[in-house]
Amino acid sequence: MCGIIGVCALNRNITPMISLGLRRLEYRGYDSVGLAIISGDGLVIRKAKGDVDSFLSRFKVEELSGLTGLGHTRWATHGPPSDVNAHPHTDCSGRIAIVHNGVIRNWNSLKRVLELRGHRIVSETDTELIAHLIEDETPFSSSFFEAFVRAVSRLEGSYAIAVVNADEPNRVYFARMKSPLVVGLGDGFNIVASDIPALLDSTRRILLIEDGELGWVTPTEVKLFKLTELGLVSVEDKDLELRVRVVEWSVEEASKQGYPYFMLKEIVEQPYSIKSTYEGNVEDPTLRLAASLVWSSRNIIVTGAGTSYHAGLIFSYYLSRIPRRISHNIIASEYKLVEEAVGEGDIVIAISQSGETYDTLEAVRAFKARGARIVGVTNVIGSALSRESDIVIYMRAGPEIGVAATKTYTSQIMSLTLLTLFTALEGGVLDYSEVRSKLEKLSGAHEIVARAIEKSLNHEIDLSLESKSTYILGRGLGSLIAREAALKIKEIAYIHAESYPAGESKHGPIALVEKGFPVYFIATSDSPEIEGNVMEMKARGARVVVVKTDSWNLDVEPEDTVKIIEMPLGENEILLEPYPLIPYFQILAYKISVAKGHNPDKPRNLAKTVTVE
Ligand code: M6R
Repeated sequence: MCGIIGVCALNRNITPMISLGLRRLEYRGYDSVGLAIISGDGLVIRKAKGDVDSFLSRFKVEELSGLTGLGHTRWATHGPPSDVNAHPHTDCSGRIAIVHNGVIRNWNSLKRVLELRGHRIVSETDTELIAHLIEDETPFSSSFFEAFVRAVSRLEGSYAIAVVNADEPNRVYFARMKSPLVVGLGDGFNIVASDIPALLDSTRRILLIEDGELGWVTPTEVKLFKLTELGLVSVEDKDLELRVRVVEWSVEEASKQGYPYFMLKEIVEQPYSIKSTYEGNVEDPTLRLAASLVWSSRNIIVTGAGTSYHAGLIFSYYLSRIPRRISHNIIASEYKLVEEAVGEGDIVIAISQSGETYDTLEAVRAFKARGARIVGVTNVIGSALSRESDIVIYMRAGPEIGVAATKTYTSQIMSLTLLTLFTALEGGVLDYSEVRSKLEKLSGAHEIVARAIEKSLNHEIDLSLESKSTYILGRGLGSLIAREAALKIKEIAYIHAESYPAGESKHGPIALVEKGFPVYFIATSDSPEIEGNVMEMKARGARVVVVKTDSWNLDVEPEDTVKIIEMPLGENEILLEPYPLIPYFQILAYKISVAKGHNPDKPRNLAKTVTVE
């Protein structure tokens, strides 16, 4: 995810608008920054790896001036963060500049064609190719806009782009497909940006651009077209007027896109993040390479901290069920427990959203020093984990701002499930058609999670706010999801929540259960014997809530002290069961936190990325 902005004004310097826009967009990406300004007869481009503040002061941006320009904050997807990969990018002539948010799926073939046609590509990004594509189409077009449209028609994937052309100094071209884009309408200026916060300091009149639309802004007009199968269709000015909205949000509210907290925004984003993880990885040869290493390795070690460790537990379970390989889960800070036994021929799957967690990196370094190969699973391109791994699988979930990991947990599970399936294919445990049919099911996970989120948001809180303690029990897959559910309740709702294998609870923990003690069960289809454990708790007066999917029957009757909450799944598939079950607990933790007056984005004593021992 990146932030883009493009501004053109009649008679005012646009640099302050771009600088402020970059600050407002930084939450969308913060590994590199850049801008392009049309100045005199050409383009002035400044760009660098790093954050917005250092960029603005290093390049003395307040001293630059111009009437038209672009800005970009980057969250790397193609090519690690570096000065050369930072946007804006230009064509060979250096007269076209572009900023982009999204992923161009056919970048590989476009790159080959462009290079054959003599274009010199200098960065590793997919974005630069678009500038060259426009340049490539120019000789066949009667106008720059026609070249722009022809170039955009050749793109597959997602994009929100803004383009300037030094030969047309009062215009910003734009196009949108599956990445957000808005136009801010000002008095003597117009702005194109990824989202509303980037515009709010300058204007509150907003036009939302839709998928398949493209056009241009000048300081005084907006021209919008829809790219259809039949060609380009102009959107009438009167229809544009009807689409203009006046936004009342504050800048902070707008960054959260109307959600009161990032945590809620990120929970609700899961259908998109899971889809992005699936689509970004399913055909990635890196995954096949990692799978062949997993299959051929002697020991498989799975490590990480917090939520990442929990996702690793599910991976190990799936590995044992599908390709029938046993792996060892180790909490990163406890790597010494297995260190001596690890060596050449072993593989370590190191999972970390940030890729910067100290404990995980230490474990990776220790295992690597002993000769193990490292597969890093991370959300952050260019992170320390990505640099220190032999192979990297990217989660592609987009930035996660809330301290609680939510969307990255489901994306971790998705990427690791794909790795499981390809490992089974590699080992010949599943044939291609069996893998394909499982992949088809996984490709619908985003719809499952969407239904679960909707149901959980509408559900009343079941855990009394006065509870100081609760158990979250499960068997099989449920016992693993319970680990993550308990972490969310602890860190966000500030309630002591202990996850335990339900069968094991009678070996000790049940001693704490008395009348009214809240006990959650996460019941999964692999373990119908959980019924007996529900009865044990009920018999001791516990207030029981069973969370399960609708795809199988549990022989437990709901009553006053036993509630059953069914999450929509529709089919019995163990690989899909985490997606309908975890959102309930993410939302439960969130709701309790807010009801208690806490800030779920900033739980006490916690940091998003823990870079200390
Ligand atoms: O960035 P990482 O995935 O390595 O972070 C690991 C943990 O610090 C993280 O999952 C933490 O437990 C979160 N607060 C969980 O919500």
